Amino acid sequence: MAVSKSVFFRKPGNESVVGSGTYGKVFKGLHVYTGQSVALKRIRMEGERDGFPVTAVREVKLLQSLRHLNIVSLLEVMVEKNDCFMVFEYLAHDLTGILNHPTFKLDDAQRKHLSMQLFNGLDYLHSRGVLHRDIKAANILISKEGILKLADFGLARFYAKRHQLDYTNRVVTIWYRSPELLLGETQYGPACDIWSAACVMMEIFARNAVFPGDGTEMNQLEKIYAVLGTPTVSDWPGIVDMAWFELLRPAFKVKPVFKERYREQLSPAAFDLLEWMFRYDPTKRPTANEVLAHRYFTEEAPEARQAVELGDIAGDWHEFESKALRRENERREKEVRKAKEGRNHAKEPAREKGAHGKERERKRVYDENEDPRDPKRVHTDQAVGSEAS
Ligand SMILES: Nc1ncnc2c1ncn2[C@@H]1O[C@H](COP(=O)(O)OP(=O)(O)OP(=O)(O)O)[C@@H](O)[C@H]1O
Ligand SMILES: [Mg+2]
Repeated sequence: MAVSKSVFFRKPGNESVVGSGTYGKVFKGLHVYTGQSVALKRIRMEGERDGFPVTAVREVKLLQSLRHLNIVSLLEVMVEKNDCFMVFEYLAHDLTGILNHPTFKLDDAQRKHLSMQLFNGLDYLHSRGVLHRDIKAANILISKEGILKLADFGLARFYAKRHQLDYTNRVVTIWYRSPELLLGETQYGPACDIWSAACVMMEIFARNAVFPGDGTEMNQLEKIYAVLGTPTVSDWPGIVDMAWFELLRPAFKVKPVFKERYREQLSPAAFDLLEWMFRYDPTKRPTANEVLAHRYFTEEAPEARQAVELGDIAGDWHEFESKALRRENERREKEVRKAKEGRNHAKEPAREKGAHGKERERKRVYDENEDPRDPKRVHTDQAVGSEAS
């Protein structure tokens, strides 16, 4: 083992990276005395004039107040030279990694168990007065034993249960953002997490994002309307009070196709539950507690079963590794294509062939040096400092 200045050993350079978001990197580390695996989330200090970034303080304070099987545990905060790290228990996978795994497939009982744990975690958060505000597959960790834990509390905050406060609506990665947030609502509550969690549950079944928009609010709403139909005032009386209702008013009516599209893929109770969570009117959506009491979890077969088979998967699968694999596959396909092109060009004059060869070589060097991380990470907005606190 290499000499380490820290009590947490990690492989040098990018070798130990397991996650990389807009705000920093996450590394896998090993406690040199106990052998415990940990995740080290680096807190970016650049550009911070007044010491510790306020968003990180919020994340740490919130995490310290939470203790639940389905919420990731923050073990400590560590300072190493000029860097600061949040030290978490390590989980081998996240939901994006599992859903994109090349061979592993979940069965319906395991899907139910993962969904149940998701809403258990959410029910705990909401009962403690915490909104997560960034529920999505990459922020949901899964252990080798099939235990699910909510992570990434970078946008989470306590909310006022009794009275309404104004919050920023620029939260939640846009594909998982609820219609009220997209329409500019700033007095939202736990129902926005329920919407995002419903998107995740759909993804557990369909393996693809249910509303993959192009990153703009307008297009995101159009994606939702195209599946659920355009909302009517009788569905959602409060829609006319939304800040951007007039601005983003749909140009024409669209009929819902949710049933046609998903009835086959979902059991009757799962379909009924998802339809309830995808109500346009946030006040009509179920609470996490009501979700857990739904007959999909309590009555309908199959019974939920822990995905212990995840223990048989080789390696760790996070969004990070699945993106790297996708990139590698794309690179290989490109090489095969080029090789085929090269064979076709073989009949051409020698001078031309040389030029092609050089070009291919330059290209390959570029590919190999390419950063394996995806710079085009799905849009996530930082909470703005002007929020009510
Ligand atoms: N405790 C952990 N164990 C294993 N992997 C983790 C852990 N925490 C995070 N990761 C991995 O790192 C990725 C990024 O972590 P996280 O979501 O906390 O930060 P982030 O995405 O950089 O933050 P933000 O979404 O605010 O930009 C996760 O998607 C997950 O794959
Ligand atoms: Mg994240």
